[in-house]
Amino acid sequence: MILAKIVIGTLALQSAILRDGGRVLNHPNDPPLPVSPVFEARQLRKVYHTGELDVVALNGVDVEFFSGELVVLLGASGSGKSTLLNILGGLDVPTSGALSYKGWDLTNADEHTLTLFRRNCVGFVFQFYNLIPSLTARENVALITSIARDPMTAEEALEMVDLGDRMDHFPSQLSGGEQQRVAIARAIAKKPEVLLCDEPTGALDITTGITVLEAVERINRELGTLTVIITHNASMAQMADRVLYLSDGQMVKQRRNEKRLPARELEW
Ligand SMILES: Nc1ncnc2c1ncn2[C@@H]1O[C@H](COP(=O)(O)OP(=O)(O)OP(=O)(O)O)[C@@H](O)[C@H]1O
Ligand SMILES: [Mg+2]
Repeated sequence: MILAKIVIGTLALQSAILRDGGRVLNHPNDPPLPVSPVFEARQLRKVYHTGELDVVALNGVDVEFFSGELVVLLGASGSGKSTLLNILGGLDVPTSGALSYKGWDLTNADEHTLTLFRRNCVGFVFQFYNLIPSLTARENVALITSIARDPMTAEEALEMVDLGDRMDHFPSQLSGGEQQRVAIARAIAKKPEVLLCDEPTGALDITTGITVLEAVERINRELGTLTVIITHNASMAQMADRVLYLSDGQMVKQRRNEKRLPARELEW
């Protein structure tokens, strides 16, 4: 019975991901939809077994993320930030607890469903840009647009991060900030519902970091992409709708900002 429920749930999730990326579709004349979370995590635990040792990376995290919001996730090194982000993005699975995406259970999703989920619904940006050195900016982004369901063009994605004039440059011909913006263009070209950024400015100086954050901010506003940014830089919290604090694998505090500070006005 439970197995049948999981199979039916998985098939429904797969077909929704294939059909519309799991977006909630609503006709403009319909009454507004009730606000339901994009992600809902309940008592998430992640334990890594390394040799004799068990490392508890997440220890009962309850958290929700809503459509279109920009969330900054803060916490000391080792507090579980990347682990949480990787689980949200379907790169890793929790040891126990429940995680749903748009009401669909991700916890019991099979590998094929998670692959579809990552491909159609989630964009990732990491500290190191992971561009292919032998491909131009345009070609790096086109790699993704060639397999996505309903992508924008590589050119449109690069315009969104203000790199319209650098499309035919190779990564070695671009600054760190420009390379990171190519990585952002690559992440958002598929028009994902969710953009997950793990220390996107970690390798950059202040000025360059701000140009990268401006690109993220623009995508969040113009595409309405739920955006989660991990950082060690507490001043970046001012650009968020909501700030979450992890400590020792637990969500210890959260705060809502009355007003978001534009990235260009951040000081750190
Ligand atoms: N693949 C893994 N195998 C074993 N332990 C792991 C693994 N990934 C993470 N951990 C451990 O889980 C804990 C949480 O790690 P995580 O990477 O989520 O922290 P973080 O908050 O992102 O830290 P940082 O700010 O340094 O990136 C740490 O103690 C880490 O050593
Ligand atoms: Mg980390």
